[in-house]
Amino acid sequence: MADSASRAVFLLQLTDCHLMPEPGQLFRDIDADSQLRLVVDDVLASGLPVDHLLLTGDLVHHGNAEAYRRLLDILAPLPGKRHWIPGNHDEIGAMRAASAMPCGREEVDLGHWRLLLLDSTSYPDGRGSGSLSETELVWLEQRLAQSTERPVLIALHHNPVATDSDWQDEIMLGNAADFTDLVAAAPQVKAVICGHLHQSQARSIGQARFWCSPSTSVQFKPAQADFLLESGGPDASPGYRWYRLYPDGRVESGMRRLAQVAPDPELG
Ligand SMILES: [Fe+2]
Repeated sequence: MADSASRAVFLLQLTDCHLMPEPGQLFRDIDADSQLRLVVDDVLASGLPVDHLLLTGDLVHHGNAEAYRRLLDILAPLPGKRHWIPGNHDEIGAMRAASAMPCGREEVDLGHWRLLLLDSTSYPDGRGSGSLSETELVWLEQRLAQSTERPVLIALHHNPVATDSDWQDEIMLGNAADFTDLVAAAPQVKAVICGHLHQSQARSIGQARFWCSPSTSVQFKPAQADFLLESGGPDASPGYRWYRLYPDGRVESGMRRLAQVAPDPELG
């Protein structure tokens, strides 16, 4: 049996839960609390061997500490060490009021891997975009310079690459080139993951794989000029991603969706 130094580490990503301030309030016609509970049930039923649970932002729709406490209560049955980063809908002060977990810039040991968490909520434009602050970029550059041997996974809320949707490309990471230049110059970065898009994506940034997880709430239809919700079929249902990080730097990702709870097309 593999020991902890040689086995793969399993990371579960949940994102864009968009819990409303009060339980029972609807977010785009769905009960985000109920859907998140179904996601938790699915993770438990799947038997996925979760070592770490990463929440990549927009965890509540309007930030307040009580909504974050509700979120953590719903997630309580899941195994794994918790980590979270803010999205454009989050309030860092409320996250910190709800939990002693670090929030934002953080370096985490994942077995042989190193996880770098970034806060991409600087310089918001009021429509959903965000950027990495100069402090964030300098910190990332220093971390990458100090750690060239171990494989690195970077997580941030905003997507740092365009995804062929005009309206979403306008609210992607504002200073994406600054970020992707750092990634391309650091071969130990094996993967970059984000939320924000409310859809599955699998692309590349230089040598690194790039993945986005579906939301645990509503999904946005890919490759659109204007905002459009997925309104039926499996791609409309809540989902999540997982990552298996091998000691030699290989990474696998998979996605699960809850097709049985797809929103009613009439509500789309
Ligand atoms: Fe979101």
